[in-house]
Amino acid sequence: MTATITTPSTSTRHWYLAPPDARSGLGDGAGADGPVALVDAHRSLLPGGFSTSLAFVTRQGDLLFGDAARAARRGTDVLRYTLPGGPGGPVVLIYDPGQIKTVMTADESIAPSATHQSPLAPIVGPDSVLTSIGERHRQQRALLLPRFHGKAVAKYQQSIERATDAGLRAWPVGKPVPLSDIAHAITLDVIMSAIFGLPDPSEATDAERAMRTAILRLLRLSTTPFATVTQLVNARREDPVGLLKLVLAGVDRAVYRVLAERRAEPGSTSRDDIMALLLAARDTDGNPLSDSEIRDELMTLVLAGHETTANTVAWTFERLTRNREVYTRARAAALGGDEPYVEAVINESMRARPVVPIVARNLLAPFDFGDVRVEPDTTALVSILLLHHRDDLYPHPFEFNPDRFLGTRINPYELMPFGGGIRRCLGAPLAMAELQTVVGAILRRVDLRTHDRPAEKPRHRNVTMIPARGGIVVADAID
Ligand code: HEM
Repeated sequence: MTATITTPSTSTRHWYLAPPDARSGLGDGAGADGPVALVDAHRSLLPGGFSTSLAFVTRQGDLLFGDAARAARRGTDVLRYTLPGGPGGPVVLIYDPGQIKTVMTADESIAPSATHQSPLAPIVGPDSVLTSIGERHRQQRALLLPRFHGKAVAKYQQSIERATDAGLRAWPVGKPVPLSDIAHAITLDVIMSAIFGLPDPSEATDAERAMRTAILRLLRLSTTPFATVTQLVNARREDPVGLLKLVLAGVDRAVYRVLAERRAEPGSTSRDDIMALLLAARDTDGNPLSDSEIRDELMTLVLAGHETTANTVAWTFERLTRNREVYTRARAAALGGDEPYVEAVINESMRARPVVPIVARNLLAPFDFGDVRVEPDTTALVSILLLHHRDDLYPHPFEFNPDRFLGTRINPYELMPFGGGIRRCLGAPLAMAELQTVVGAILRRVDLRTHDRPAEKPRHRNVTMIPARGGIVVADAID
């Protein structure tokens, strides 16, 4: 079942290697002129749809771009799959902004989030803001939201700058390093201070230091090859098993020790961190949250906020170092205080390489997507990756061009790195503050060696799409 609709000059097996002048073939009608950067079609090597499930995990972009370009030639932009080992039942995949808006703004009673099936669910539990639905979700979100609004985030600015400075000072000059390593250290420090209220390690208590070490161990586990095995072993379970259970038991003990310490601390309620907010929260009957509820919420914020932000920094420089003119302009913009251009670079990076490439909803009622009727009990996958590469929204979608976002109002259903609707990323303002600070500081202070190596392959880990080599760069000098 291989179909190739490319012109030889621009054809490639891999979407991320598509040349900048190529079209994706999505969204502008199959008959439009110009070369289409497709990607050979996915070959079914295993019976029963297993190879499609495997392709979703190993080469999602290649599979989807190929299938979507073929579907466009048939005049549709709704893809249907069955994914053994994935969500049970039929699956549709959509990437049209109107259809996406319909699903993301539909009432939760007919299109609830599917995050309770996410690989993060066994770690964060079923009742966290990420995994709960309905009234519980509304309450948790309303509680946390004020701590992620602009003014509240401004309070974290100092710690973002301190963490960035420490990260840049630890960066080895002259050596190829994965930028994601540096960005992980920075975002971990920000999370430790904004979420847990942890001071500088030198001033931390024993319990705080132990918690930091335990969380670091969990995050490291999630980045090793064991993570995939652990993910498979724990898929669709509410409670973790195996190695994950062991590591989480250590994290829980450490978090509970700090909670006990904070409860006993005089004046702890006047702290700005999110742990303090959760400790002070009361439900409608005036009862405090239990330790395990607080722990679930804290782990959600760590897991949702760490890998995503760090890899967005890595992708930004993976793209910039392969687009020398844009890099030079971005550097000049950062040095000259042109924040809108730096923000446009970040938006373009999240468009071209969305770290969360897919979000899911369970459709419990019939939905009509154009001519396609979708029956209840279907999982809808919203492909942020394909949406961001539609020719009608982003001409020359494979070109890295921040100018697209200068002087324009962004339509929230055309650029969706943070998802949308009532499940839109709670941490988006914190993430944007971190990205502006970290990307701005690297542009200003680090002389990066640019190179013409082929683009890094995207790798899918848990729910994220990350650069396979971590965004390797060499710093020639750091101020
Ligand atoms: C560049 C960085 C980030 C990206 C690309 C990102 C992306 C996303 C996306 C796409 C969703 C929606 C998931 C869905 O609809 O199923 C989401 C949800 C969420 N994110 Fe982020 N995120 C980032 C950073 C953060 C940070 C820094 C935090 C907090 C510290 C955070 C906390 C959350 C939470 C709690 C949710 C669940 C919201 C809900 O269900 O109501 N994220 N994120």
